[in-house]
Amino acid sequence: MCGIVGYIGTKRAIPILLDGLKALEYRGYDSSGFAVLTKNGNIKSERAVGKIMNLEEKISGREDLFGTCGISHTRWATHGGVTEANAHPHADCRQEIWAVHNGIIENYKELRRDLEKLGHKFRSETDTETIVHLIEEFKNKNPELPLEEAVRLSLLTIRGTYGIAVIDAREPKKLVAARNFSPLLLGIGDGEYLVASDASAVLKYTKQVIYLDDGEIAVLSHDGHSVHDLKRKNHEKKLHEIEWSLEDAQKGGHPHFMRKEIFEQPEAIENSIRGRIVAKGGRAKLGGIAEITDRLKSVRRIHVAACGTAYLAGRVGEYMLEEYAGIPTEVDLASEFRYRKPVFCDGDLFIAVSQSGETADTLAALREAKEKSVLTLGIVNVVGSTIARETDVGVYQHIGPEIGVASTKAFTSQVAILALLTLLLGRQREMSGVMGERIAAELKKIPLHIRAILKNSGQIAALAQKYQKYENFLYLGRKYNLPAAHEGALKLKEISYVHAEGCGAGEMKHGPIAMIDENFPSVFIAPQDSVYDKMISNIEEVRARKGPIIAIATQGDEKIRELADDVIYIPKTLEMLTPILSVIPLQLFAYHFAVLRGCDVDKPRNLAKSVTVE
Ligand code: G6P
Repeated sequence: MCGIVGYIGTKRAIPILLDGLKALEYRGYDSSGFAVLTKNGNIKSERAVGKIMNLEEKISGREDLFGTCGISHTRWATHGGVTEANAHPHADCRQEIWAVHNGIIENYKELRRDLEKLGHKFRSETDTETIVHLIEEFKNKNPELPLEEAVRLSLLTIRGTYGIAVIDAREPKKLVAARNFSPLLLGIGDGEYLVASDASAVLKYTKQVIYLDDGEIAVLSHDGHSVHDLKRKNHEKKLHEIEWSLEDAQKGGHPHFMRKEIFEQPEAIENSIRGRIVAKGGRAKLGGIAEITDRLKSVRRIHVAACGTAYLAGRVGEYMLEEYAGIPTEVDLASEFRYRKPVFCDGDLFIAVSQSGETADTLAALREAKEKSVLTLGIVNVVGSTIARETDVGVYQHIGPEIGVASTKAFTSQVAILALLTLLLGRQREMSGVMGERIAAELKKIPLHIRAILKNSGQIAALAQKYQKYENFLYLGRKYNLPAAHEGALKLKEISYVHAEGCGAGEMKHGPIAMIDENFPSVFIAPQDSVYDKMISNIEEVRARKGPIIAIATQGDEKIRELADDVIYIPKTLEMLTPILSVIPLQLFAYHFAVLRGCDVDKPRNLAKSVTVE
């Protein structure tokens, strides 16, 4: 997804911009570029398609690019193909005003047509370029207009989402940034400022940040900063200290972030549940929602909206909340939520689940719920992210940065937090103290169980090797492990580009079984739980059709060994918690499978870590 980095200070801008862009690489992108104010008062820009390395190669040895103020961008194409001309920054007709932009300008076609009628010459197919020509137009009409004012007037004219950073050769001591529905923060250094769409881009230089809110414009100069809104009202902004170190965001000895994050899961879960379980009496204590704990007693229905892996965590939550708290729960893909016109009633609770806290569809669903005055709760990892700030209350995941595009530790932590929420809501209702204590005790044991599964990673790597030649996989599960089956299939397809499908095992006979033959393996998630016997029947059905079978089973289950070609064992736990364990071998299988195929597991093609466009 697009990334922005800007700098104004006393140091050479380009190395800082490139460092920042590299820190944002994990978000996914297809081209990059920068513009820098040079000593002689011109702005020079370079752009390149592909990796940032290509941009570096283009500028190596260039002496003319010295400057202490600049903006840069990694683009993930939305409007206009992946070309150098469409890469940011974009400039006005005179190449004096330059801007980088994340988001989408919805009325760009009309604006472009009007601007072209006025004589503006466009060089790209992007919606972004309209912004710089608009700014230019306001300045043409009034050459005395300060850049921030021309930016403000332009933002009042456009409709859509943006995080932007703008520089102007005629006002060389200034960098203007603004945000609407697209994350942007200021890094406050010693005599220098950065602007970035993600904190990782500024971490190397400062840990002090200011998060911009929607409708805010920041003006950065060599000796100060100010923030105001679209009505020119000044805003006093709070300084935040980022807790993550740069080291946290690095691989820590693992060949890939994804592997590191899979292996971090025992600590991640420990961090997510620490201090939140009251073992005696089996209750959960969630500080971030303490102010509404009493109000939760009257919740009669829950809506969950999320995307990708977070959505699948929500689906596990649905089973938990209905079975143990007795609250009707609906889980929606956030991208569908708004459009299906959900019906809200008194006593509704809306839960947004999002690792990044910036996913545009999830944010849009949250805003829909807020507009209808529904109580909102966020399960979010990134502290200070938009969803975290906009929900009424929230539970942070505390799992540190997740860099690998394919989500792993975020999923298990989200399920663990949903289990805590189930405990809290359940104990407010019919759940007995004995049951509560059991869930609490089993949840505490989960990190230990994950460690045991991870010890077995060699066996899973060997299995990935054995199944290398297959191009199709079916993942089957029931009840709590149906979302886990979908998550296993999602992991495999997103990082190895092999076709994998998640399916309810009971649904198999209504279609997917037609695909089964000796070249189509099935992965059965079949722990010894309330649907175990049904799963065994489904395994038999695949076996009868000569489909190769991998089973994820409970430690000690010898029966399944006779039916499946390969078995990966997981420790016994409470049924509702099994997806946290069953997903670990599926993550490892996908990881090794993709590595063996030579895929870029941390940055799979066409995908982005944080999808900030709808
Ligand atoms: C992207 C990522 C997924 C992630 C999804 C939701 O598609 O590639 O791994 O699950 O976004 O992200 P969120 O940050 O809202 O959890």
